[in-house]
Amino acid sequence: MTLPVVELVDLGKVYRGGKNGVQAVKGVSISVGAGEVYGFLGPNGAGKSTTIRMLLGLIAPTAGEVHLFGEPLRNNPAVLRRVGSLVDGGAFYPFLSGRTNLQVLAKTHGAGADRIDALLAQVGLSDAANRKVKGYSTGMRQRLGVAAALLGDPELVILDEPVNGLDAAGIQEMRLLIRSLSADHGKTVFLSSHLLHEVQQVCDRVAIISRGEVIREATIRDLLSADEGLRLHASPLELARSVIEERWAATAEGDSLLVSATQEEAPELVRRLVGAGVDIFALAPERRNLEEVFLSITQEEMADV
Ligand SMILES: Nc1ncnc2c1ncn2[C@@H]1O[C@H](COP(=O)(O)OP(=O)(O)OP(=O)(O)O)[C@@H](O)[C@H]1O
Ligand SMILES: [Mg+2]
Repeated sequence: MTLPVVELVDLGKVYRGGKNGVQAVKGVSISVGAGEVYGFLGPNGAGKSTTIRMLLGLIAPTAGEVHLFGEPLRNNPAVLRRVGSLVDGGAFYPFLSGRTNLQVLAKTHGAGADRIDALLAQVGLSDAANRKVKGYSTGMRQRLGVAAALLGDPELVILDEPVNGLDAAGIQEMRLLIRSLSADHGKTVFLSSHLLHEVQQVCDRVAIISRGEVIREATIRDLLSADEGLRLHASPLELARSVIEERWAATAEGDSLLVSATQEEAPELVRRLVGAGVDIFALAPERRNLEEVFLSITQEEMADV
């Protein structure tokens, strides 16, 4: 078995201030395997950036440990040479071109000078490479930020809210870029987002974080399929409902029912309905999207408090 690329062990952070400080992150334990695109999903203030800052050694945890490539970050900051990151959208000199900005960074990091043109092409900025960053759109800046993160040819790429502030086209470009980092370049990607839709489309696996704690971790697939059901259009609907409720749960939504049965149970559902004289017009599997799953999970969480 290969070592996880990222392993957070009972990670916690209390910011000083106030009477007891602010518990921004609490007991976060996750591990990310090589080549995975892993999403850290949570609402504003959930603790995403705090976790990412600890992952990058920018701030020290007050509890727990960060391991990168199987080594504790605490004793071994050199391991960060294998990591590239985009935090706060990246900072660039506005009056220099995209290419010159990358040249300056390559010089400071002592890496990547020979790969700048390839990186500009990879993030779709070849045509704009000689223009001043001042005139770049938000999306172009973000993509330049990703190019900067890739300068040292890192195995692990950490992106804090990479689609923040992007329009639909920019989001689509960033999505393809992130997927290709993993699919074509074999990189491991750890990203944070409060945009469920993005995480759903880009990540293999996701941790949902709320008030500093991971409240659920799952593959996108499991997260969606755990809550699948069957959408039924039938008549008379009330009769259908009473037949269904002998065995499954059903909720009426408009002129249809959402039945909490699996696809494997569909034939039996149909037999029962037809046997009772119900006319079936349509029956189709329905997956709740991650947004609904996310909302129900975070609401459960709120209700517990
Ligand atoms: N430097 C700091 N000092 C004190 N409290 C902080 C500091 N940075 C963050 N916090 C608090 O820690 C909590 C988590 O903040 P964090 O920035 O990690 O959340 P986030 O998930 O990145 O949110 P967002 O989606 O808004 O970026 C919040 O309650 C925030 O107010
Ligand atoms: Mg943040």
